[in-house]
Amino acid sequence: MQIIDGKKVSANVKESVRLETLELKNNYGITPGLAVVIVGNDPASRVYVNNKKKACEQVGFMSEEYALPEETTQEELLELVKTLNGKDDVNGILVQLPLPKHLDDKAVIEAINPKKDVDAFHAVNVGKIMLGEYDFLPCTPAGVMEMLHQYNITVEGKNCVVIGRSNIVGKPMGMLLLHENGTVTICHSKTKNLAGVCSNADILVAAVGIPKFVTADMVKDGAVVIDVGMDRDENGKLCGDVDFENVKDKCSYITPVPGGVGPMTIATLMKNTIKACKIQNNIN
Ligand code: GUN
Repeated sequence: MQIIDGKKVSANVKESVRLETLELKNNYGITPGLAVVIVGNDPASRVYVNNKKKACEQVGFMSEEYALPEETTQEELLELVKTLNGKDDVNGILVQLPLPKHLDDKAVIEAINPKKDVDAFHAVNVGKIMLGEYDFLPCTPAGVMEMLHQYNITVEGKNCVVIGRSNIVGKPMGMLLLHENGTVTICHSKTKNLAGVCSNADILVAAVGIPKFVTADMVKDGAVVIDVGMDRDENGKLCGDVDFENVKDKCSYITPVPGGVGPMTIATLMKNTIKACKIQNNIN
């Protein structure tokens, strides 16, 4: 059993983005810029946003934070997105989700210029991913693929099971595995015999948001298990969707929480932002 080190893989990705950023600065005098918008006081979102800003510093990007109060109106938020769409020094716009309940996240995402949509949440970018002709890949699923690549884990012909069908993770995750010729099953709350389906997986991706949901009986011997969960256990301690201690010995590879998929999401965001900068400046 090998533990996949997301921190190490993410450091590799960020280092290559840092070098590319230096090149952009030296050759063109351009610095990639990311605007991060956070609305309200969700403590988890605050941690994610701080980590994203820290990563920008590490790779040499300009980053701007727009922290808006909980009571921000839909019109105010849309107005900010519009302003950011028009700012030449902002190449990527990220509106941290979830938004407070009174705000319509769909309308906000659709207001972002698709060329600045470094989350790849806009319908235009989602459509491009379906067609396999994308500029940006969604951060978490692309981060998972990067981990598989760096550990030389091939997808072709494998039984890949994704638990969860969210627009942010489950659905695009299935699509990226399919692009690499995996045989993909997406499971959800209505799936019959979920444990049986999972126990046939060569590659099992858990993105359900339920602490320690994946137990040893759901995992095939020698499987690769990827844990996208960021949950709290009964003692309030950070844990994943996989019962790591009981599952790990059955796996060929497994990602831990923390230190697995989480850092990879941010590394992909850095990749997408520099790509957005190059596209907007006609640099290939
Ligand atoms: N909330 C949880 N994950 C994400 C993400 O990848 N992007 C944004 N914008 N919000 C999130």
